[in-house]
Amino acid sequence: MSRKIELYEVGPRDGFQNQKKYIPAENKLKVIDAIVGAGVKNIQVTSFVSPKAIPQMIDSAEVARVCLEKYPRLNIFALAPNLRGASNAYDCGIRTITYVVSLSKSHNKANINRSHEQSMEEYLRIRESMPDMNIILDLATTFGCPFEGKASTGEVVDFIGTYVEEGLKEVDLCDTIGVANPAQVREVISAVKAAFPELALQVHIHDTRNMGMVNTLAAIEAGVDKCQSALGGLGGCPFAPGASGNLASEDLVYMLNDMGFDTGVDSDKLILAAKTEFELLGEGNFSGHLMKIEKSACTGL
Ligand code: COA
Ligand code: ZN
Repeated sequence: MSRKIELYEVGPRDGFQNQKKYIPAENKLKVIDAIVGAGVKNIQVTSFVSPKAIPQMIDSAEVARVCLEKYPRLNIFALAPNLRGASNAYDCGIRTITYVVSLSKSHNKANINRSHEQSMEEYLRIRESMPDMNIILDLATTFGCPFEGKASTGEVVDFIGTYVEEGLKEVDLCDTIGVANPAQVREVISAVKAAFPELALQVHIHDTRNMGMVNTLAAIEAGVDKCQSALGGLGGCPFAPGASGNLASEDLVYMLNDMGFDTGVDSDKLILAAKTEFELLGEGNFSGHLMKIEKSACTGL
């Protein structure tokens, strides 16, 4: 039996939030359909944030409702930065959120205008008012912050510990600006696993320095089996200077399938989904790496 790696597609949230031109909900849903068609089972379809902060996500309720109705057996989840967002998501039927908090105080302030204490307070209120909501802590800037640099591994563990004490079951370690290296990824994951053996782990790695793949592979080798990535390599946090795209899902799936991991996702169909995405976004043709893949003899396309 080959080892199973679960792909968590975050393009419809992380990828789209960074697009300046509004993408009509209809087109967002077409991209999500193509992602589902490739076999992806976990999809972050939107975020419940202030439309003043992220105008692109103004249609979150519509996108979430359509996806939940259309794909009742899939893990359709959303990002929420506060109680209000979690409650809006809950009202649409969402039962899994990534609750975003930054390890660095200054990025937490820049991104969601909250102190660490305020973020914890709202986490507790979400737990109390929505006990059946699964909360994944999206720990932004785990591997480095644009304002504060890198924290120590001990600081990462201690911070996560404060949430574990309050019932946290799963954390997503985010390299928000793509500054991690494989040795750091291994060290942080080993320390988090050792400190909290029951805690489920995901990684979310940006590809700023073309290190998304090696860092994600390092995480997998360190024992993580849930990986986030974004179709077409889109993505980035508008409140983190220098943040660029995520690791491209189609590239990650190609590598994992070819290495013999069981992702359950069809790599060729995911490439076609990425092409659909670029066409719908009106971004010219499609990204450079997709063109290279198309020209390569090694693909069934
Ligand atoms: N959804 C929709 N609107 C929301 C909201 C939510 N989750 N949370 C707050 N608002 C509205 C408030 O009603 C208020 O509206 P008003 O000005 O019309 O009265 C306004 O936003 C400000 O509310 P406040 O609680 O003071 O928020 P803030 O100004 O401190 O902003 C966030 C905090 C979290 C709402 C905002 O920074 C945000 O949405 N950030 C998103 C960050 C993000 O998605 N980053 C990328 C992903 S990591
Ligand atoms: Zn991201």
